[in-house]
Formats: sequence, C-alpha cells, structure tokens
Amino acid sequence: MAALRMGRHHVVGGCGATVRGRPNSWFPGAPPRPEGKQEYMQYVKLGATGLDVSRICLGCMSFGIPDRGTHRWSLDEEASRPLIRRALDAGINFFDTANVYSDGTSEEIVGRVLAEHARRDEIVLATKVHGRMRPGPNGGGLSRKAIMTEIDHSLRRLGTDYVDLYQIHRFDPVTPIEETMEALHEVVKAGKARYIGASSMYAWQFSKAQYTARLNGWTRFVSMQNHYNLLYREEEREMLPLCADQAVGTLPWSPLARGRLTRDWDETTERSRTDEFGKGLYQEGDRAVVEAVSAVAAQRGVPRAQVALAWLLRQNTVAAPIVGVTKPQHIDDAVAALDVDLTDKDVQSLEESYRPHPVRGH
Ligand SMILES: NC(=O)c1ccc[n+]([C@@H]2O[C@H](COP(=O)([O-])OP(=O)(O)OC[C@H]3O[C@@H](n4cnc5c(N)ncnc54)[C@H](OP(=O)(O)O)[C@@H]3O)[C@@H](O)[C@H]2O)c1
Repeated sequence: MAALRMGRHHVVGGCGATVRGRPNSWFPGAPPRPEGKQEYMQYVKLGATGLDVSRICLGCMSFGIPDRGTHRWSLDEEASRPLIRRALDAGINFFDTANVYSDGTSEEIVGRVLAEHARRDEIVLATKVHGRMRPGPNGGGLSRKAIMTEIDHSLRRLGTDYVDLYQIHRFDPVTPIEETMEALHEVVKAGKARYIGASSMYAWQFSKAQYTARLNGWTRFVSMQNHYNLLYREEEREMLPLCADQAVGTLPWSPLARGRLTRDWDETTERSRTDEFGKGLYQEGDRAVVEAVSAVAAQRGVPRAQVALAWLLRQNTVAAPIVGVTKPQHIDDAVAALDVDLTDKDVQSLEESYRPHPVRGH
C-alpha cells in the first residue's frame, strides 16, 4: 500500500485504512493551530474503522505506583501528570493502558489526569484484559467471567462509562475462543467499549479469533498491538501481512525497544536496570542495529529516538506506535519524528544488520 503524503503534514494510512489528510487541524474538530507552532499532530483512521487516532499513541505503562505490580520504574501521579498534559498539548489523542499495569494504578492515574485536562469525547482511551489481577481461580484470562468482571473494574478505575478500544492482552489457549469473542461482543453491545483489539499472539490465533467472530456475526478486532521495532521484526513474517490483508490497524508496542534504540548498547537507566520483562526481549547481536541508529541520527543531527520512530512511521502497516515516556523531551521527540523523512540509504543502513530473533513477547 502506498503512503499518501499531503504536504508537510501528511497523514499516512495504517494498514489499509482509508487515508484522509487533516493538514489544518492539530486535534479533531479543533481550530487551526496558532502561527508559529511548527509541530502538528497527524491523525489516521485506525484500520478499517472511522476512528481518528493520533499517529503517536501515548503508552501509559510508565504511569503507576512503583511498588504496586511489576514496574518498579513507573512514575507516580505527580510525576505522570505533566507528561500526560504535554501529550495532550501536542495533540496526542490516543492513550493506551491495561488493567495489569502497576496493579490497576496506571488506569487510575490516567483516568484522573485525563478527566481533569481533556474532554472525554475527544480522546481515544484504550485498555486491556487478560493478565492476572488476583491470585487463585478466575483471577485472569479471557473467560466470559474474567472479561465481564475486568471491564467493570477498568471502567471504575478509569472513571468513565466506556473505553474506546478494549484489547485482549494475549491469547488465552485454555478458554474456547467462542466464549471470549462472544463476551467481547457483549461488552461492545453493552456500550462499555466502542471497538475491540488484540495484542501479541501468533497470526493463526488472531486469524482464528477473527473468523470465529465473523462466522457468528460478533464484533471483530480492529487493531493488533504487537511488538515491532528495529530490533524485533519477526512480525514482518506473518502478523503484519495478515493485518494488511484484513485492514487491521497495527499499534506497535515498545517501538524504541524499551529505550535500547535511544542510547548506546551498554548504557543503562533506572528503568532498564529494573525492567525485568524487557531484559529478555533483545540479544547481543542487536548491538549493530543500535549503532546504525546512532550513525544515522548523528548524520541527520536528530536524537536517536526520532530516527527509530521515523522508521516505524514509514511502514505502511503501522497505524500508530505506542511510545513510552519518562521525561517531557520524550514526547517532543516522538512528535518531531513525524517530520523526519528517512532516505532509502538511511533505511538500508538501519535494516541491514538485523538478525532473526526467536519469537518473544507473546
Ligand atoms: N501489549 C503489550 O503486551 C505491551 C507490552 C509492552 C508495552 N506496551 C505498551 O507500549 C507502551 C510503550 O512501551 P515501552 O515503554 O516499552 O516503549 P518504548 O517507547 O520502546 O520505550 C520507552 C522508553 O524509551 C526511552 N525513551 C523514550 N523516548 C525517548 C527519547 N526521546 N530519548 C531517549 N530515551 C527515550 C525511555 O527509557 P528510560 O525511561 O529508560 O529513559 C522510555 O521509558 C507501554 O506504555 C504500553 O502502553 C504494550
């Protein structure tokens, strides 16, 4: 699929989406931005839907009480608030969280801050279900009972009547897919979710879920939130072509390889030292790709994060990368990446050192 460029503030179709340009608006329905503001947000239709999402989605896994759940590096409410506000100011309308992030406290913080600083109708709020929320039977998974319980808990924590996108965080191999898809359909019909989406799984599992829904006249997934970045491109084999074929919008998670693509291979941060899940995702052979990102960034005089995100944004299969941030500058870089046009030579040097990985992050 060819990307459609519309002047400087182009909008690119993610995965078969209807492509529509909004060169004069920085937020749906908002007046043109004042003169002098150089950076505009871009919006794209999510997959085959009519939903406008900003091409940068704010990942809200960074927000949560650090000693709840497994993200010791997460930012508490006070530290999260200015980041969420800055994202709104930048025209980001799309926010992704999950019931499991910091034991529900990510949803609580995001819900409170957005309620104070945004109009509910203008934001696209996404959360997820599947992870374990309680020990013991029925504490996680995608049974009818789990889904019906968890959507209500998420709505309560988020302080809203509905989420825009309700995503299954993983595939549940021990629950019949008919049970899961029918329960999700009922969540939509009850008005508790506008759309449903899925996250990392095998392409055959996603395909099975979609055809089960289609066979029964149930709501189908409109998006796939998968692990995709310059260090992990295994999704190019099966999942991304499937999504392109089915006009499913893709929302890459950890687009900066959890910070790996933004700094030297051996450099660490508070997050990288304590990010247990992230430690198992990448491999020594990825160092060469990190060095290539550094070289392209130096040549162009932009931060590495902008180069890594610009590479993702130019993939026709990608609707909106879900960027994780722990500093205000991270948001500015993500937005600025929309204006970085990589050359074919840049792309070749970024891609040529890639070495296949075992499937990770499912
Ligand atoms: N569906 C799933 O299974 C799944 C899994 C993982 C994540 N997610 C979603 O994806 C979102 C993003 O994940 P992620 O946080 O791993 O994404 P990421 O964007 O790959 O990594 C974010 C980290 O990169 C560093 N960074 C970001 N911008 C930077 C910049 N401009 N300059 C320098 N460093 C920069 C920061 O690291 P430091 O903090 O170390 O400085 C930041 O914490 C999450 O919030 C969540 O919504 C979903």
